[in-house]
Amino acid sequence: MTLPQAVIRKWILFRLSAVLTILAMAGCQKAATEIESQREPDRILQVHAADWGEFVFQEKPSTTGWVAFPADVTATDYTSAVDPRALGIVPAKECAECHAEFVRGFIETAHARTMRRATRESVLGDLTAPHNRIQTGRPGFEFETLEVASHIVHRLHSREPGIPAVLEVPVAFAVGSGNHGQSFLAWHGDQLCQTPVSFLTEANCWGNSPGTYVDGTADFSRPATSRCLDCHNTWFAHAPGSVNRYDKGHFVMGVSCVRCHGAARDHVRYHQQFPADRQAQAIINPRGLSRDRANEVCAQCHSGGGELRRPAFTYQPGEPLEKWIALNMQADAPSNDDPHSANQLGRMMRSACYQRSETLTCMDCHDPHRQERGRTELFSERCQNCHQVADCGLSVKYNDKLSQRCVECHMPSRRDVEVTSRNAGESVMPLLRDHLIGIWPDVSRTIENELGAPQP
Ligand code: HEC
Ligand code: HEC
Ligand code: HEC
Ligand code: HEC
Ligand code: HEC
Ligand code: HEC
Ligand code: HEC
Repeated sequence: MTLPQAVIRKWILFRLSAVLTILAMAGCQKAATEIESQREPDRILQVHAADWGEFVFQEKPSTTGWVAFPADVTATDYTSAVDPRALGIVPAKECAECHAEFVRGFIETAHARTMRRATRESVLGDLTAPHNRIQTGRPGFEFETLEVASHIVHRLHSREPGIPAVLEVPVAFAVGSGNHGQSFLAWHGDQLCQTPVSFLTEANCWGNSPGTYVDGTADFSRPATSRCLDCHNTWFAHAPGSVNRYDKGHFVMGVSCVRCHGAARDHVRYHQQFPADRQAQAIINPRGLSRDRANEVCAQCHSGGGELRRPAFTYQPGEPLEKWIALNMQADAPSNDDPHSANQLGRMMRSACYQRSETLTCMDCHDPHRQERGRTELFSERCQNCHQVADCGLSVKYNDKLSQRCVECHMPSRRDVEVTSRNAGESVMPLLRDHLIGIWPDVSRTIENELGAPQP
C-alpha cells in the first residue's frame, strides 16, 4: 500500500471546512440592506491589464464599490509567430463527411460547448428581471445580465459617487458548458477580459465570478490569458508578447477534434483524394500512443494550469507535453495548482489502479465522442474491465448491490474551494469528481446506509 494516506487525510480535513461553509449557503438572492455609502466621491479606477501576470492578482483597494477596465492600447499587427494553417487546424464539421457518427456524438459533449458566442441560447442563466440580478456584498452595487438588441450585456447599477448610475458592458463569449457554471468574456478593443458576473448551475443563479474576485467590486480588467483560451478552445490568433490581445476575426471555439488528434489537414486531403483507401493516413489516434503520451493529450488541459513554454494552441498530440507546458504533477489536492482544473491526471496517477497497472489511461473510462455524464452505472462497468465485484472488501456484505456503484464510493465528488464564488457573504463552490481512485471510509459509510441491509 503506497498511497499517500497522510496527504489524503490532510486534504479531507481541509475540504471538510469548505463543506461546512457551503452548508451555510442560503440561496442566491439576499435582501438588500440600505446603508449610506462611505466611499469618497472620486475616481473610476483604471488598471492596465497587461501589467498583470497570468492569474496573479495585484493588490487592489481593500474597499469595495470600485470599477476597473483595462487601459486602452494601440492596435497590434497580427503577423503572428504561429500560422494556424501549419498547425493543420480543421473545424469538427469538416470531419463529418467521413466520420458523421463521431461528429454527431461529439457536438453533444462539454468539450464542444465549452466556449460559445454569448447569445440567448448559449447563456444558461435567466435573463429576465428580477432573476437576472445579483445583489453584491456592497449595497447599492448590483449587476444584471440581459439581452439588449440581440446582444447579451452586463449592467452595473451603482449608487456610488463618481460611478455612472448605469454602466453597460457587452458580453462576447460564454465560457463553460454549464455542467458547473458559466463565466463570460468581453472585448475592450482587442483585449479580451473576464467579467465579474458568472452563472452558477447548481444554485441555478447568477453570482460573482469565482476565485480571488472580490464581492462588491466591478472588475472588468481581469485578462483572459492565452492559457485560459488554450484550455477552452481550438484556436485563437493571439498577438505575440501580449497577455490578452487577439485577432477578433480569427478563432475556432471549443475543444475540438484536432486538439486530441493533431494536425488533420493532410489527413482530410489524402482521404478526399483516395476515397478507396481505408487505411488511415496522417492522423494521430491516442489509442496508438504510449500510456504517457496518451495521457498527455488530456493533460494539456486536465493537469492544472502549469506554465506555457511555447505559444498556446501549438502542442501536437504524440509529442512530449513537457516541451510545451511545465506542469505540476504533485497534485495533493484536486484543485492544486490553479486554475480550477481538478487536475484529473495528477490525481489519477496517485491511485493504485494507475501505479499497479501498466495501462490505465483516461480512455479506460471516457469516450470523448459521447456525452456520458451522469451515467454512474456505465462508469462502474468500466471498473469491471479490470476488477470484479468480488475484489471489493464489501462484496461479502452486499455482493451485486455494489456492481453499478463502484465510482460513488471510490471516486467521490468534492467541493472545490479554489473556485469559491462569494456572494453577499455566502459562498458557492462546485462539486468536482476526485480522480484519486481509493478507499474513502466516510463516503462509503454514507452509501452503505443507502444500500440498506447486507445481503445474506
Ligand atoms: C474524406 C474522408 C475523411 C475525412 C474528411 C476525415 N477522415 Fe478521418 N479517416 C478517414 C478514413 C478512410 C479513415 C480510416 C478508416 C477509419 O478508421 O474509419 C480515417 C481514420 C481516422 C482516425 C483513426 C486513425 C487510426 O489510426 O486509427 C481518426 C482519429 C480520424 N480519422 C480523425 C479525423 C478527424 C479529426 C477528421 C476531421 C479533422 C477526419 N478524420 C476527417 C477518412 C476521413
Ligand atoms: C484543449 C483542452 C482540453 C483537452 C485536450 C481535453 N480536455 Fe477535457 N475538458 C476541457 C475543458 C475546458 C472541459 C470543461 C468543459 C465544460 O464543461 O465547459 C473539459 C471537460 C471534460 C470532461 C467532462 C465532461 C462532462 O460533461 O462531464 C471529461 C470527461 C473530459 N474533459 C475528458 C477529457 C479526456 C479523456 C481528454 C483526453 C482524451 C480530454 N478531456 C482532453 C478541456 C480539454
Ligand atoms: C489548465 C486548463 C484550464 C485553464 C487555464 C482554464 N480552464 Fe476553465 N476549465 C478547465 C477544466 C478542465 C474544466 C472542467 C472542470 C474540471 O473538472 O476540472 C473547466 C471548467 C470551467 C468552467 C465551468 C464549466 C462547466 O460548466 O463545467 C468555467 C466557467 C471555466 N472553466 C472558465 C474558465 C475561464 C474564464 C478561464 C480563464 C480565465 C479558464 N476557465 C481557464 C480547464 C481550464
Ligand atoms: C478530447 C479528445 C478528443 C476529441 C475532442 C476527439 N477525439 Fe477522437 N479520439 C480520441 C481518443 C482518446 C481516441 C481513442 C479512443 C479509443 O480508442 O477508445 C479517439 C479515436 C477516434 C477515432 C478512431 C476510432 C476507432 O474506433 O479507431 C476517430 C475516427 C475519431 N476519434 C474521430 C474524431 C473526430 C471526427 C472528432 C471531432 C468531431 C474527435 N475524434 C474528437 C480523443 C478525442
Ligand atoms: C486498467 C485497469 C484498472 C481499472 C480500469 C481500474 N482499476 Fe482499480 N486497480 C487496478 C489495479 C492493478 C489495482 C491494484 C490491485 C492490487 O494491488 O491488488 C487497483 C486497485 C484498486 C483499489 C484499491 C485501492 C487502494 O488504495 O488499495 C480500488 C478501491 C480500486 N482499484 C477501485 C477501482 C474502481 C472503483 C475503478 C473504476 C472507477 C477502477 N478501480 C478501475 C486496476 C484498475
Ligand atoms: C458502498 C461503498 C462501496 C462500493 C459501492 C464499492 N466499494 Fe469497493 N470498497 C469499499 C470499501 C469501504 C473498501 C475497503 C473495505 C475493506 O478493505 O474491507 C473497498 C475496497 C475495494 C477494493 C480493494 C480491496 C483490497 O483488498 O484492497 C477494490 C479493488 C474495490 N473495493 C473495488 C470495487 C469495485 C470494482 C466496485 C464496484 C463493483 C466497488 N468496489 C464498489 C467501498 C465500496
Ligand atoms: C477509472 C475511471 C476513470 C478514469 C481512468 C478517468 N476518469 Fe474522469 N471521471 C470518471 C468518473 C466516474 C467521472 C464522473 C462522471 C459523472 O459524474 O458523470 C469522471 C469525471 C470526469 C470529469 C468531469 C469532472 C467533474 O466533476 O465535472 C473530467 C473533466 C474527467 N473525468 C477527466 C478525466 C481525465 C482527464 C482523465 C485522465 C487523466 C480521467 N478523467 C480518467 C472516471 C474516470
